[in-house]
Amino acid sequence: MTVGFRGFSVNEASQSVLDPAGLAARQIAELFYWMVGGATLIWMLVIGLAVYAIFSRKAHPVLTTRKLVIGGGAIFPTVVLTGLLAYGLSLMPDLHRPAPAGSLKIRVSGVRWWWRVEYFDGDGNPIETANEVRLPVDQPIAFELLAEDVIHSFWIPPLGGKMDMLPGRSNWLTLHPDRQGDYFGVCAEYCGTAHAQMRFSVVVSDEATFADWLATQGLASRRAGDRSAASREEVFLRRGCSACHTIRGTAAKSRVGPDLTHFGTRRTIGAGILPNTANHLSRWIVETHRVKPGVEMPSFRTLANDPEDLSALVAYLESLQ
Ligand code: CUA
Repeated sequence: MTVGFRGFSVNEASQSVLDPAGLAARQIAELFYWMVGGATLIWMLVIGLAVYAIFSRKAHPVLTTRKLVIGGGAIFPTVVLTGLLAYGLSLMPDLHRPAPAGSLKIRVSGVRWWWRVEYFDGDGNPIETANEVRLPVDQPIAFELLAEDVIHSFWIPPLGGKMDMLPGRSNWLTLHPDRQGDYFGVCAEYCGTAHAQMRFSVVVSDEATFADWLATQGLASRRAGDRSAASREEVFLRRGCSACHTIRGTAAKSRVGPDLTHFGTRRTIGAGILPNTANHLSRWIVETHRVKPGVEMPSFRTLANDPEDLSALVAYLESLQ
């Protein structure tokens, strides 16, 4: 089943290593195919010899069998494995090359169980968003990777290799997307209950589309200026959401949970686990722990008995552009 929303389909967004959309991922996929090819060749040879040994009635001279054991058991695997090792090592300088000075820099922090994402404006001030990474195509991007609690691991399989995120230390990873599209990133290091629900959406677009998006992200949130919008914002503040979330341009300024300033533009809810639609958002707010066991956000079950507040809250969040 395909769940489509806002021109984006959760199931069509690739999370596959073998569907490369970045320079590093292409090299890694190629290495994978060579490894599989080499392994298949050796496997067929060994099985072929085993079958021959079982069914052959012919006696072989000792010298021939000794040659076979030494040649097939020691020399052949040594040559093949050394070849694959040399090939694998030859890719490493490319995969580890830092992004040139002046490249776009993005800071991503792993938090149980979501992603704090920071871009930087011309003066170096951070522009915060969450659980979504947007990238311009055809240029190297420097990711600074951090963790706020335990060890996580940042991985966008279609773009390149993974990198651990360690508390108290910056790790750097360069990715170079070369195909536009929608992808998913995941946490690749077990980090507790909701580890498998720690994902993020990745959107690779042309430079102009990316620049427009980033300019919008730097602004305070825009909501419709009518009175009903103001009263919806009041529900958000009164219900205690601002104890954990920031919405720039309002009184909500906490950094405990994801920044929601431009929530309405995001592809997903709950760190890449649900499409961002009004129905999913209602469910997420009321049954948070059923949707994502272990999540730090409390379930706001009381809102189930107050449909007016719930729909005002959902409409407010979805309106944040
Ligand atoms: Cu974060 Cu696994």
